[in-house]
Amino acid sequence: MNADTLAQYRSWFSRFVQDHAARNEQDQQNILLKYAHTLQVCSNTRRIAAELGLDERAAAIAETVALFHDIGRFPQYHRYRTFQDSLSVNHAVLGAQVLLERHVLRDLPGLERSLIVRTVALHNVFLLPRGLDDEVLLQAKLVRDADKLDIWRVFMELLDRDTADWPSAAGLGLPDTPEHSPGVIDSLERREMVRLTSLRTLNDFKLLQLAWIYDLNFAPSLRMVVERGVIDRLSATVPQTPEVGRALGKLRQFVAVRLASETAA
Ligand SMILES: [Fe+2]
Repeated sequence: MNADTLAQYRSWFSRFVQDHAARNEQDQQNILLKYAHTLQVCSNTRRIAAELGLDERAAAIAETVALFHDIGRFPQYHRYRTFQDSLSVNHAVLGAQVLLERHVLRDLPGLERSLIVRTVALHNVFLLPRGLDDEVLLQAKLVRDADKLDIWRVFMELLDRDTADWPSAAGLGLPDTPEHSPGVIDSLERREMVRLTSLRTLNDFKLLQLAWIYDLNFAPSLRMVVERGVIDRLSATVPQTPEVGRALGKLRQFVAVRLASETAA
C-alpha cells in the first residue's frame, strides 16, 4: 500500500459518490455533506498520522480507512433515506460489505485488505473490543479520533444557526428544551461514554459529544480539540448548572494534564 494506490482509491470513491447522487435537492445535500465529511476525516487523519510519525505504508492505510469509513452511508441513504442506523442498517458493517462485494481493495495483499475492511466495520462501535491485534487497534483508534473531530466541526457549525433551521437528522429529533438528564451528566463526570439511547434532550447530546473527548486516543487529536475551541463552543450552549460546571472543569483539567504530560515526554 502506498500513495499511488491511495490516489486511485480517491478517484474510485468520488465516482462511487456520483453513482449514488440523489434526484431530490435535499437528499443530494445530505449526500454531499457526507462526502465533505469524508474528505475532512481524511485531512484530520493525515495530520494525526504525520504528528504520530507513522511510516508511509501505515499513513496510506490510515487514509484509505478514512476515505472508506463511511462508504456504507451512500447505499444506506439510497435505500432508507436516513443516516440513523437504528432506523436502517449498521452503516459500518454495510461499508465493509461494499468494499468486499465490489472488490475495491483487490490489488492489495490480503493482510492489508482485511486490516482495512475490519477497521471500517469497527469504526462506529460504542467502545473498541479488547484483544484486537496491534495494527487494527492503531487504525481503529486513528479513524475514531479523526471522525469525532469532524463530527464536532459539523455540529459547531450548526450551533451558529437557529435549531429551527437545522437539517432534520442533525439533532437526532431531540427537543431543544432547557434541561439535561442526570444520568448523562453523571457519565460525563465519571469519564464514561454516553449511549445514544439514554438521550432525552439536545443538551444531553451536547454532553455526550463532550464526553467523547475522554475517548480520544492521541495527543494530536487533543491538540486539535483545543485549537478548534470544541469545549468552549459546546459548553457555551448547555445550561450552566453546578453539576455541569463541575463536570466541565474536570474535562478541561483532563485535557490540560494530558497535553502537559505529552509536552514533558
Ligand atoms: Fe461512520
